[in-house]
Amino acid sequence: MKVLVIGSGAREHALALTVARSENVTEIHVAPGNGGTATMGGKVRNLACKATDVDGLLAFALDESVDLTVVGPEQPLELGVVDRFREKGLRIIGPTRLAARLETSKAFAKEFMQRHNIPTSDYRVFTDSSSAAGWIGGLSDADFPKVVKASGLAAGKGVVVASTREEALQAILDMFEARIFGDAADEVVIESFLRGEEASVFVLTDGTDYRFFLPSQDHKRIGEGDTGKNTGGMGAYAPAPLVTPDVMRRVEERIVRPTLEGMRRDGCPYTGFLYIGLMIDGGEPSVVEYNARLGDPEAQAVLPLLESDLVAALEASLDGALPDIPFEMKPGAATTVVLASGGYPDSYETGKAVTVGPEFPVSGSVQLFHAGTTSDGGVLRTSGGRVLSVTAVAPTLRQSIDAAYGAVEHVGFDGAYYRRDIGAKAFS
Ligand code: GLY
Repeated sequence: MKVLVIGSGAREHALALTVARSENVTEIHVAPGNGGTATMGGKVRNLACKATDVDGLLAFALDESVDLTVVGPEQPLELGVVDRFREKGLRIIGPTRLAARLETSKAFAKEFMQRHNIPTSDYRVFTDSSSAAGWIGGLSDADFPKVVKASGLAAGKGVVVASTREEALQAILDMFEARIFGDAADEVVIESFLRGEEASVFVLTDGTDYRFFLPSQDHKRIGEGDTGKNTGGMGAYAPAPLVTPDVMRRVEERIVRPTLEGMRRDGCPYTGFLYIGLMIDGGEPSVVEYNARLGDPEAQAVLPLLESDLVAALEASLDGALPDIPFEMKPGAATTVVLASGGYPDSYETGKAVTVGPEFPVSGSVQLFHAGTTSDGGVLRTSGGRVLSVTAVAPTLRQSIDAAYGAVEHVGFDGAYYRRDIGAKAFS
């Protein structure tokens, strides 16, 4: 069986490794992949085709008779890669362009949640700065903080938590007038600030049935203690104890089922991976955002804890057989620490040689996933902001944290930065 994985991050490296565990899989092509997937060997090779080159991906899948395609990031979903593949009778995991609006249009997602009584914060949508500024001007001081979001895709950067009226007005000017997020801020959502603690829940769904992965928690800020700028994510762990069985039941009843049913009723069934970004306050979950994919770095913690065959589950989701297959998780916990280029999320240098020391533990329980790396004549070099993820699986969360940090010591590059408190929140 031939599998195509679309994307180039550590999430896609983890997907390739998880797919490779399936005995039925003979070839895995990662488009475009990274230095890690380039050097995996065995069944895995890179395909020199960008994740956004839908024509190129489609031509490859048709020419090579690819049996199954898995979409990692959101951009190809917005470009309709799933629709294009399905039109040609190809099997692909992901939502259609219209269903992916749960992520690609925050305005769509908020209106959808309101209409289907799915718990989320109050919001308003604006299409110009003067009406947004007028509305902000009419609020009282007690109405802040507010969250100002570019409605479209902004690489995880389009969210500003405005503590004061002045900060909210500045965010509106930055988005509508300075166009710092380009067309992604043609619509701007302003919503109430939710208090609590965040968690990420992923499901695999065929539009009706669904299976849960273990709940996880991301660390979005660059600095320890959740300080500094937002990033794509600096580390994760799973399972997140904050998502108790009771919380999970509420998530299922109040969020997952109404979301899938609502999308079906709206004539837009949602298929593939659905990421529910939650705020949990006193055990009550609300939706912060949906994403139409697995999270990164959460996938690097969650996928190694999947005991069952992912490919069998993906196939079952295409065949209407999701309830019939095993979808078991391993006991224990996983922690993922992200190594980033010095300076990230602002400007940073690339081209630094990556070294993996001889003491780096080579075992099934510790994995090194690449993101911003290239393989340059056999030499690994940095090529992005988030460069590597180190994941350790262990019987307890504490042990997995210690094992992940023990491994991080043996991998590096000039200027490497990582947070030293990944997982600490679980004990607070
Ligand atoms: N971890 C956040 C994201 O994948 O969007």
